[in-house]
Amino acid sequence: MSVYNIDMSDILVVGSLNADLVVRAPRFPAPGETISGGDLATIPGGKGANQAVAAARQGVRVSMLGRVGKDNFGDFLLDNLKANQVDTTLVQRDDAATGTAIIVVDANGQNSIVLSPGANGQVRPADVDPVSLPRPKLVLLQLEIPLESVIHTAAVARGLGARVLLNPAPARPLPDELIAQTDFLIPNETELSLLTGQPVTDVASAESAARTLLSKGTRTVIVTLGANGALVVTPEQATHIPPFRVDVVDTTAAGDAFIGGFAAALLRGLSLEEAVRYGNACGALAATKFGAQPSLPTAKEVKQFMNA
Ligand code: RIB
Repeated sequence: MSVYNIDMSDILVVGSLNADLVVRAPRFPAPGETISGGDLATIPGGKGANQAVAAARQGVRVSMLGRVGKDNFGDFLLDNLKANQVDTTLVQRDDAATGTAIIVVDANGQNSIVLSPGANGQVRPADVDPVSLPRPKLVLLQLEIPLESVIHTAAVARGLGARVLLNPAPARPLPDELIAQTDFLIPNETELSLLTGQPVTDVASAESAARTLLSKGTRTVIVTLGANGALVVTPEQATHIPPFRVDVVDTTAAGDAFIGGFAAALLRGLSLEEAVRYGNACGALAATKFGAQPSLPTAKEVKQFMNA
């Protein structure tokens, strides 16, 4: 049963759901090498579902659209979304297996990920039917479902009057047609460099590359700079928002925490810069805990952290 009426959603996430199969290891293995790590952990993940939970934990109403398999991982991921008050009415069960991510986390908290898209690869443009969609204020997109479905969703969302936020991850080239449909484009440095063909090595080069994306029609570019915070670039301004310093345990889903937190803060009426600072706090907190969705902070945790 649906947690609440999907017509009431503030945010619709159209994207991936993965079971993350995670092992901690002292370091990443070299090609052809076998090393021993810790116990295997099975953790709810997937960029789409992570961003949905990240926003829902900030108290906004979120619906998820995507596909999982008719398997135990599918049950596991849906149960976790529901437990986090994310409406799952628009998540279909597919004959393909639930998407999985094979993740190694090293001693520095950095990760290395191989995806098996499974049911995520079956999300079709027809799944995103404007007639049956909620009327969200903001639609969140990533690139772990087929690109044609992302392009279609962005056009549908704008037709419904929603703002479109695209996190272009994992990195891949994008058509200008899609970039022009976005209100917010949130790449990291690697994704920004791949999208523009420009080297991104510091704040100045990030601003220059972000301006290339603005020239293609997006309205706001927010470059996540990891331990260096974030850079907000609009046609009128460029503002560097400093990071929060934390002891890093695992960076998995820190970017997703940023996006969910930023989106929720924006809908709460914070200014663009304030919402990015809020997102920075969410990302920093997520990096202090192991795993994807279990690491995503609640609104109370973010408030305490930002006041401290
Ligand atoms: O952004 C982190 C996510 O990327 C993980 O949860 C994994 O599922 C991959 O999709």
